[in-house]
Amino acid sequence: MDILLLGSEVLRQKAEPIEEINEDIVTLASGMMEAMHEGKGIGLAGPQVGVMKRIFVIHVEGDVPRVFINPSIVGTSEEQVKYEEGCLSIPGVYTDVIRPGEVKVQAWNEKGKRFILETGGILARVILHEYDHLEGVLFIDRISEVKRNRISAKFAKSRKA
Ligand code: NI
Repeated sequence: MDILLLGSEVLRQKAEPIEEINEDIVTLASGMMEAMHEGKGIGLAGPQVGVMKRIFVIHVEGDVPRVFINPSIVGTSEEQVKYEEGCLSIPGVYTDVIRPGEVKVQAWNEKGKRFILETGGILARVILHEYDHLEGVLFIDRISEVKRNRISAKFAKSRKA
């Protein structure tokens, strides 16, 4: 599975709901998990591997690997926190992003079981970041324009080198 990089139009498109959680989806989820681990990432969303479906996988240190299918953000804390983010689609770029500190999410796992997760810390951060991918939003959209332009230019240059 190849991970698409910043500049790919696909990363800017909205992903479609998954109609049925079948064997294909299980295979997709495990392939995404593998690609994520290979890239030493802690989260990966469908569009990043060119699959325009509402699915992402997450594995943060000290936690179990998690699959989110057709997730919806049920609620977020009013409190906003600053945390350094990176993305497998924008390798080498890390920058502080402000987002809600806590999130409540509803989704289905790869076994077709619906769950609700209320969490904070890094897990909340990764959930919000990955959810954005399903909407065609990247973390650099959530920083100042000046900073974003600087990062984009630097990234484009590093790709050409
Ligand atoms: Ni990302």
